[in-house]
Amino acid sequence: MGRQCITEVGLWLPSLRPGVEEWQQMLSSLGQLYVQGVKVDWLALDREYSREKVALPTYPFQRQRYWVESSEGSDKTTTKHPSATASSPITELLDRGDYQQLTAMLSEKESLTAVEVVQQLIHLHQKAVAQTALRDCLYHIEWQIKPLDVASEKPSQDGQWLIIGGEVTVTQKLAEQLEQKQQSCRFVKELPQDYSELLQLVQQETELPLVGIVYLNCEEVTSHEEVLSQTETTCQSLLELLQALLQDESSNPTKVWVVTAGAVALGEHPISVAQTPLWGMGKVVSLEHPELWGGLIDLEPSKDVESQMEYLITELLNPDADDQIVYRREERYVPRLVPSSPSTSKTFKAEPTGSYLITGGLGSLGLKVANWLVQQGARHLILLSRRGLTEETEAAVAALQEAGNKVSVMSADVAEITDMERVWKQIQAEEKPLKGIIHAAGVGRLDTLEELTPEVWEAVLRPKVKGGWNLHQLSSSENLDFFVCFSSIASVWGSAGQAHYAAGNQFLDGLMHYRSSLGLPGLAINWGPWAGGGMVTAEAEEWLAQTGLETLSPELAISALEYLMSADQVQVTVSQNDWSHFKAMYALKRPRPLLDLITVAAERVEAKTEQAPNLQQRLEVVAETQRSELLRQILQEEVALVLDLPITSRPNPEVGFFDMGMDSLMAVELQKRMSKLLGVNLSSTLTFDLPNIEKLEKYIIDQHLVGFFKPETDEDQQEESFLETNLLAEIEQSSDQELEGSIDQILESIID
Ligand SMILES: NC(=O)c1ccc[n+]([C@@H]2O[C@H](COP(=O)([O-])OP(=O)(O)OC[C@H]3O[C@@H](n4cnc5c(N)ncnc54)[C@H](OP(=O)(O)O)[C@@H]3O)[C@@H](O)[C@H]2O)c1
Repeated sequence: MGRQCITEVGLWLPSLRPGVEEWQQMLSSLGQLYVQGVKVDWLALDREYSREKVALPTYPFQRQRYWVESSEGSDKTTTKHPSATASSPITELLDRGDYQQLTAMLSEKESLTAVEVVQQLIHLHQKAVAQTALRDCLYHIEWQIKPLDVASEKPSQDGQWLIIGGEVTVTQKLAEQLEQKQQSCRFVKELPQDYSELLQLVQQETELPLVGIVYLNCEEVTSHEEVLSQTETTCQSLLELLQALLQDESSNPTKVWVVTAGAVALGEHPISVAQTPLWGMGKVVSLEHPELWGGLIDLEPSKDVESQMEYLITELLNPDADDQIVYRREERYVPRLVPSSPSTSKTFKAEPTGSYLITGGLGSLGLKVANWLVQQGARHLILLSRRGLTEETEAAVAALQEAGNKVSVMSADVAEITDMERVWKQIQAEEKPLKGIIHAAGVGRLDTLEELTPEVWEAVLRPKVKGGWNLHQLSSSENLDFFVCFSSIASVWGSAGQAHYAAGNQFLDGLMHYRSSLGLPGLAINWGPWAGGGMVTAEAEEWLAQTGLETLSPELAISALEYLMSADQVQVTVSQNDWSHFKAMYALKRPRPLLDLITVAAERVEAKTEQAPNLQQRLEVVAETQRSELLRQILQEEVALVLDLPITSRPNPEVGFFDMGMDSLMAVELQKRMSKLLGVNLSSTLTFDLPNIEKLEKYIIDQHLVGFFKPETDEDQQEESFLETNLLAEIEQSSDQELEGSIDQILESIID
């Protein structure tokens, strides 16, 4: 109202405003006055108000960006369709306008409609492009000889060991040998009923910390019932042990070692399939709880365990970075993932006179495979699922039938032997012999080890373990051309929250090796996530992309299947990874030598530039004695930025990063920021090895800024306080003009 009445006056300064604190408003108006050149009596303003110290960035480089990032390459959630970037023989012919070659590539059918021509061209182009892209998606595990380095044998920590499972003679001998190495030992003859009680008992008996638990399962079983019962009991019991340890409050984390004999397909001896799920499970424990994890050791199955005690003891007392170890023919092997290019003998063709069974055939991948099999010449498909046809799958099956194929939908539980015996009778009653099986039935779930219940465990394992085993048993008399299991990357490098799924898939991997050793066809494909529905939801796709796991386009995945059907390999991983990101994520909590041979183009660490000075340049701005304070502040700001906290907040240097709410994606971000700051590629286990700001700071000072810090001495402190006192006295005695002059001088020196 004042403004409306007195229009000629230049500046209105409000003292009150709705929603703004009175004092804040007064200060803001005072600031405006000062900016207008009005002389302010600052000393009069300054009284004994209560004050709050606020941390401000003290140097000009650490600016936050508020620009919208360029969209180029930032959309990590969408699957890169290979054809978006690649050419194919079709595009080359189109470019050249070579219609004669193009028509020669089309179907031999005499009169194709325009739509059919376009469809065929698209199909041929996508197939050619996917085949080219395949090169970067195929991997397998190579077992490499790596002797254990015991030259630097450190005196093992005095502690107690608990040995569970295995034959009494074995456990006794292991206990004796551990005791010879000054370890205290206790063993239990049968798998315990109550692990919490056992742990309590063991810890009450002696003051020595429980440093390790050896969980033995070296027994080889082959009969139908024994395979299924051993698979179930050993995994469930290990799960109970892990859950009891996770609930145990003693501060000393115990390392769990799982020892098998023949759980890995290496050497001439057939794999012991019932032991395999322990390996899948172990890979997930290592990801979810590295602090609890010792490792997996697979002994020579053709020798008795007692004769291999020396290896076992050496591994237990001298662990290195490898947590998957296999002994064969006196050699120590470790796994390394390597790119794969299996040779193919012939191109795959299905037989119109045979029939093909797809378990999980009405699922997302099952139906895609059914369509592909028809394209390869199959005419009779058996699609199996528990629910049978549903509204969503009816149309897809009808389309296959309308194209002249016989599609039998069977409602059966692949894990129920009685259901499957019924299915087998029906298959055998048909005129067309069974020529191939695609086992794609599965249940996907995410449950951490703490959350897992025996029921959930069983629900996820049964289609894989009982289902796979039933199919193997029932088909043993059929003359199959192929038996393909849809396994997962979860059993290759683990997957947090999927101990059950990894265990089930590892069984299928093992089963295919077992079949191969019997001369039967078998192929396990460890699929990475597929795009376009099924077990991988859009939400999961987004999350996976953030971890460096890209989804496979169905065209690419189907090309991989087609290629692998005629390849000479029993187990292949098909996965599209952004390895630089995935490796960093994967090795966040402990080194992961499994991926050592996967090369990643070295990340460009930004060179020193004027806009982004490196850490040393930033520290050089201040006096030597103030550098450690500035370093701490810089680290606190880096951590605050990663945690998305205001830059002025100062995270407590002693609190662990993960306790502050840092997740694995943030930890990778911090590692990248630190690498950039120091101008070196830091290990991806950075936040695990140096779990708080204090430790990170010490590491940087000791390793990267040697001689850069002058420790503050008592004299420095005295001089500092003397200078401070003098400065205050000088300020008090100076006139306003003198002070203004000094401030101007300081500001000019900073700008210069
Ligand atoms: N999708 C991926 O990205 C991906 C990646 C790696 C591996 N895999 C593997 O590929 C396979 C297929 O995956 P998907 O994405 O197509 O999954 P999906 O869409 O969920 O299909 C799985 C099918 O399995 C059937 N099934 C489950 N338990 C069964 C049982 N006991 N007996 C008979 N049928 C059973 C289900 O039908 P009912 O409920 O009617 O029985 C369902 O239709 C799975 O084995 C999975 O582990 C998939």
